Amino acid sequence: KVFPDPKKGSAAVAVEIANLIRSKQQQKQSCVLGLATGSTPKSLYAELVRMHKEEGLSFKNVITFNLDEYYPIETDALQSYNRFMKANLFDHVDILPENIHIPNGEIEKEEIKSHCIQYEKKIEAAGGIDLQILGIGTNGHIGFNEPGSGIYSRTRLITLDNSTRIANAYEFANISQVPRLAITMGIGTILRAKKVILLAWGPSKAPVIKQAVEDDDSEHVPASLLQNHDDVTFFVDEAAAAEL
Ligand code: GLP
Repeated sequence: KVFPDPKKGSAAVAVEIANLIRSKQQQKQSCVLGLATGSTPKSLYAELVRMHKEEGLSFKNVITFNLDEYYPIETDALQSYNRFMKANLFDHVDILPENIHIPNGEIEKEEIKSHCIQYEKKIEAAGGIDLQILGIGTNGHIGFNEPGSGIYSRTRLITLDNSTRIANAYEFANISQVPRLAITMGIGTILRAKKVILLAWGPSKAPVIKQAVEDDDSEHVPASLLQNHDDVTFFVDEAAAAEL
């Protein structure tokens, strides 16, 4: 779906999320959302906060699982995805703290494997992800699944590509401060979500959107592996759609 600008695209995704939350509320069920960070979903979260404040959209039945977190990083560090989610969404809506799940960037190295297994188990125990929101890196990564990530990969520790560290350096004092590792849900984890929505805005995303949508699926462009899911929609602005 192509929109004239990110604001209109974000508003359309917010409506989809609000409809899902409300229909689950009517059925007295929880709504399990997979959430992304980065600059792309900021306007989506702003619109959801507006809907909470002005239209009474409640998040009391919402359970969230974030895609990824840097490793190592302090939970409250300025650049942590924990902090990002609080600042952009969680602190402004009525979600219950116990329903929020984000990989822990503070745990000891020896505990990472069991933390990742537990993360997958929690997703399963919640009934699986109803709707997964994704951004996309210019190298095709989704979450922090860098090129080469397998279609069956699950939540795990990953080494960040140099291009990703450079792309994200603006959040840190300098490139040497950008963590070299991250904990991310896998491609296999993402593909198990019932529905997937990927967002992309701006001309820098145009080449990778073309590769992900029109080229053969390949581990070299992790987002292209979404072609193996039967309910995926890309919400893009005209600039990101320019090469389609
Ligand atoms: C980040 C995140 C991804 C995000 C991507 C694009 O590093 N780990 O989840 O989709 O890179 O970021 P942005 O939205 O700022 O372009």
